[in-house]
Amino acid sequence: MSDSLSGRVALVTGAAGGIGSAIAAALSAAGASVALADLEAPTAAAAACRGRTLALAGDVTRENDAARLVAETAKGLGGLDILVNNAAIMIERPLLEVSVEEFERTVAVNLRGVFLMARESIRAMRTAGRGGRVINIASELAFLGRAGNSVYAATKGGVVTFTRSWAREFAPDILVNAIAPGPVDTPMLGLAGMSPELRRLENSMPLGRVGRPEEIGPAVVWLAGPGSTYVTGQTIGVNGGAVMN
Ligand SMILES: NC(=O)c1ccc[n+]([C@@H]2O[C@H](COP(=O)([O-])OP(=O)(O)OC[C@H]3O[C@@H](n4cnc5c(N)ncnc54)[C@H](O)[C@@H]3O)[C@@H](O)[C@H]2O)c1
Repeated sequence: MSDSLSGRVALVTGAAGGIGSAIAAALSAAGASVALADLEAPTAAAAACRGRTLALAGDVTRENDAARLVAETAKGLGGLDILVNNAAIMIERPLLEVSVEEFERTVAVNLRGVFLMARESIRAMRTAGRGGRVINIASELAFLGRAGNSVYAATKGGVVTFTRSWAREFAPDILVNAIAPGPVDTPMLGLAGMSPELRRLENSMPLGRVGRPEEIGPAVVWLAGPGSTYVTGQTIGVNGGAVMN
């Protein structure tokens, strides 16, 4: 087991979920202290981690909650070096059936939440003066688009653009990158309820299968660690070859 993140403190949003809990576990296995945040404190996911953890409750769409999550992480774990902006929702619906409320809720979690958590975290990183890493979780749909899922896909396109802009804005101290997962077997994707048609589509990619949550964490650990000091503004596809840049 590598200790590449020993002495580092990470905050992962959406850490009760499939990918978020696996990212938190991977960061803690690499030696980081990890604050796991979700709408309800993710105590089970925190208990599954190796080292020091905090389980925090907060809604990333609320300005006060975002500031509090960052402050509680810094106070409880001694700083903040790595933010993983992972919380998101997906309301899959043909465009002509999308309500304004559904549109606004998706934008609120997937873009406003990413903005608030990054702003609060980068403020804290700058004040501490020891650099930092921001890792945003986008989606392959930012590049592919998807019929019947355009609002979600557009928010993920926004996450990619945030990543590129913030990488320029906060260089060289704070490195900002994204990961664009392909389909991963989590409650969000609902593999169990996937139509045969969608299953065929997913299986037509080069690696011929949907990913597992634990296949995302290693890329986050690399982006958070000493091996990626010359990497910023990138969106790395962990997607079974579905998208090739
Ligand atoms: N599963 C996939 O196939 C897939 C593919 C590409 C990208 N992604 C992305 O990966 C990330 C994780 O997705 P997942 O599949 O693990 O989903 P998930 O639904 O299992 O987890 C998402 C978590 O975010 C939390 N959350 C939602 N709204 C929140 C809010 N307002 N404040 C705080 N937490 C909130 C949920 O409670 C949940 O625990 C997301 O950014 C998603 O868009 C997933």
